[in-house]
Amino acid sequence: MKKLFNLFLMLFAAMPILSLSESNPTNFSETCEDGSGEPGSSFGIGFDLVLDFGLYRNSCPEAESIVYSWVQTAVLQDPRMAASLLRLHFHDCFVNGCDASVLLDDTEGLVGEKTAPPNLKSLRGFEVIDSIKSDLESVCPETVSCADILAMAARDSVVVSGGPSWEVEVGRKDSRTASKQAATTGLPSPNSTVPTLISVFQKLGLSQTDMVALSGGHTLGKARCTSFTARLLPLQTGVPANHGDNLDFLESLQQLCSTVDPSVAITQLDLVTPSTFDNQYYVNLLSGEGLLPSDQALAVQDPGTRAIVETYAADQSVFFEDFKNAMVKMGGITGGSNSEIRRNCRMIN
Ligand code: HEM
Ligand SMILES: *[C@@H]1O[C@H](CO)[C@@H](O)[C@H](O)[C@H]1NC(C)=O
Ligand SMILES: *[C@@H]1O[C@H](CO)[C@@H](O)[C@H](O)[C@H]1NC(C)=O
Repeated sequence: MKKLFNLFLMLFAAMPILSLSESNPTNFSETCEDGSGEPGSSFGIGFDLVLDFGLYRNSCPEAESIVYSWVQTAVLQDPRMAASLLRLHFHDCFVNGCDASVLLDDTEGLVGEKTAPPNLKSLRGFEVIDSIKSDLESVCPETVSCADILAMAARDSVVVSGGPSWEVEVGRKDSRTASKQAATTGLPSPNSTVPTLISVFQKLGLSQTDMVALSGGHTLGKARCTSFTARLLPLQTGVPANHGDNLDFLESLQQLCSTVDPSVAITQLDLVTPSTFDNQYYVNLLSGEGLLPSDQALAVQDPGTRAIVETYAADQSVFFEDFKNAMVKMGGITGGSNSEIRRNCRMIN
């Protein structure tokens, strides 16, 4: 039913957004490659049937469409917002499970995670989550958790950017605590080697394949020069750090980062199709044009991750399938004591 729901939304909604995407815009049938056939017949299915799944079916049947339409509007205004919302869910789930701890502001008696180094001056999209929450609170008060909003918004961000859709499991609760410490140590550094990346993901029940597929989130969005300075080292030492380094690419990055203050200079994680959710990220890795050290490492440091990169670069549908599975697994990470449904995502009740 979920698939039909998305198909239904896309008929009305996704087309104008997709047409905003730069270069090879994803065509409609590709966007819906995971839809289970009969695209024409789904159109007549009504809302009751369409929402015939999930926890919020009875308690808040409008939940999915409210989240989708806010995400759609936000991404129309700012295509990068899709990336930012996807990343929020990742940074939520990797720190004490998917419990919306990432959304908490610093208050008296509570230190949030927003000032932890991986998040500081980097995470975006909080206002979009606020808008969704405030709409949901007026329609169905204290029903839809902030953690579930993050999970749905992440999925919808992928969908409106031309990527696959999947059914989001709901029923998460929001935390009454946050951990700046866990956010500082638990989120992987862009300087990580492949063995480190594998072990960080493994500890959360995510396989090497999940890790490579989820890294494909970097098909969207931007990074600051401070996140990829280590990529520029070969230019300084004159020695390529990795077999296959693309010196032209690295020189263009160095130029960007030396002409603008590196703490504010940003560039696309996928320079070819920055706002389209596709497999171009993996194609870039094979030509040495991965932006973060941890991205490029997947293609050059380990034959196992390299083989997965090659598979995804050659076949987008394999990437989409693995990405969906990995997102469901990541969205299922549990951690601390999740106890409430916040009325305001930025503070505990
Ligand atoms: C594999 C380990 C990962 C590392 C080391 C990593 C690291 C980073 C870094 C350093 C940035 C740039 C931050 C900045 O410069 O402000 C970034 C951006 C981003 N990351 Fe990751 N990340 C990883 C995994 C993921 C995963 C699993 C996802 C989602 C599925 C994801 C989605 C994103 C997105 C979409 C952006 C761009 C955000 C925006 O433009 O607002 N990343 N990541
Ligand atoms: C759209 O994608 C489908 C499935 O990949 C393909 O069969 C079809 O030819 C494409 N149509 C256009 C107009 O590119
Ligand atoms: C990554 O390594 C570079 C070069 O060694 C360093 O300047 C940078 O601060 C490191 N970045 C992070 C996030 O650890």
